[in-house]
Amino acid sequence: MINLGSSQLKYPNDSIINIQPNQKILEYCSFEDSFIYKKNMLNALNTYFKCELHTSELVITGNIGLVLRMIISSFLPPNSLLLVENPTYYNVVTLIKSIKHELNYEYLNIQKDGIDIDQLETKLLNNKNKQIYLLITPYYHNPTGYTYCDHKLDKINELSKIYPNLTIISDEIYIYHHDVKPLYIKYNNKNIISLLGFSKILFGGIRHSCIISHKDNIISNEVENSNGIISSHDHYFINEYITNFNINDELVYRKKIFDITRTICIQKIKNHLNEYLTIINEEKGYWIWCKLKNHNINTTKLVDYLQQKNIFILNGDLFFFEKQKDKYIRFSSYNDLNIFEYAIKIIKKTLDKMN
Ligand SMILES: Cc1ncc(COP(=O)(O)O)c(C=O)c1O
Repeated sequence: MINLGSSQLKYPNDSIINIQPNQKILEYCSFEDSFIYKKNMLNALNTYFKCELHTSELVITGNIGLVLRMIISSFLPPNSLLLVENPTYYNVVTLIKSIKHELNYEYLNIQKDGIDIDQLETKLLNNKNKQIYLLITPYYHNPTGYTYCDHKLDKINELSKIYPNLTIISDEIYIYHHDVKPLYIKYNNKNIISLLGFSKILFGGIRHSCIISHKDNIISNEVENSNGIISSHDHYFINEYITNFNINDELVYRKKIFDITRTICIQKIKNHLNEYLTIINEEKGYWIWCKLKNHNINTTKLVDYLQQKNIFILNGDLFFFEKQKDKYIRFSSYNDLNIFEYAIKIIKKTLDKMN
């Protein structure tokens, strides 16, 4: 099976495999052990982001997907309003539709440099009596790959001060691919909570994320108190990783390897699929987003045909803007470049047949 739909990062430093399990962290449920882990993570974050976070500002939890699920399903107060980007990370809408259809949510259009601020201001003016949550993905927004400009981030920060009923939930899963500080730290703003995770820098599927926010933030307190979403295995692994290696060198090194792999994958897509696809975020990004040159191609069928050949392009790897004909498809960079090329050639053959 070739999975082009989730990140295929190289497993970190081989020597980590030889580390003897630390029983204390595997038995993570005790207060004392979780405290040690939290202290190690705090050191790592403070070193990497050159900041001085306090333990009370950090909640370590399961992966971001899970945190978003908890926030949407359980922790938004009744009658609150959730503002999301249009388009937004597909999981968010799937979650709302499947588990919280009564949730009051509205879209804000996303532009190349971030959400439409005028639209945000109008929504804020019209909903002064509601608790408003704005969910944004400021770096390499999924699914467009756009990164917010500083001006819009500054504006969002300002607005959350003017409107105390506004809380920003900032999904910063791609932050380790950027040389920036999390928004909560950058603005020292108690109305912002930043969600950070390692699944786009260590390896996909890792069940880990950090929420950093003001100690009184209700959402992060709710997540911390809820327990039960921690994978002790992944957390053990991360604890070993951050305590045995130099976090700065490691993350910079992994980003470099990732960028090289991505560039080669892009070249292979261009070599074989140029006739069918235009890469829309060639220079920057995590995913490789491509626009189909022929919008009449049935992408659902394409995914089905590829699946029959054991090539998987998953949910969220196709997207459309409402009221636009254009169709897009997303690839992850793939560590084994020969396998990647093999898959790309099969996609070409399949498109040839469908044409
Ligand atoms: C914007 C965004 N948030 C969250 C996630 C998932 O993060 P995690 O692997 O921590 O669940 C993804 C994965 O594609 C994503 O693109």
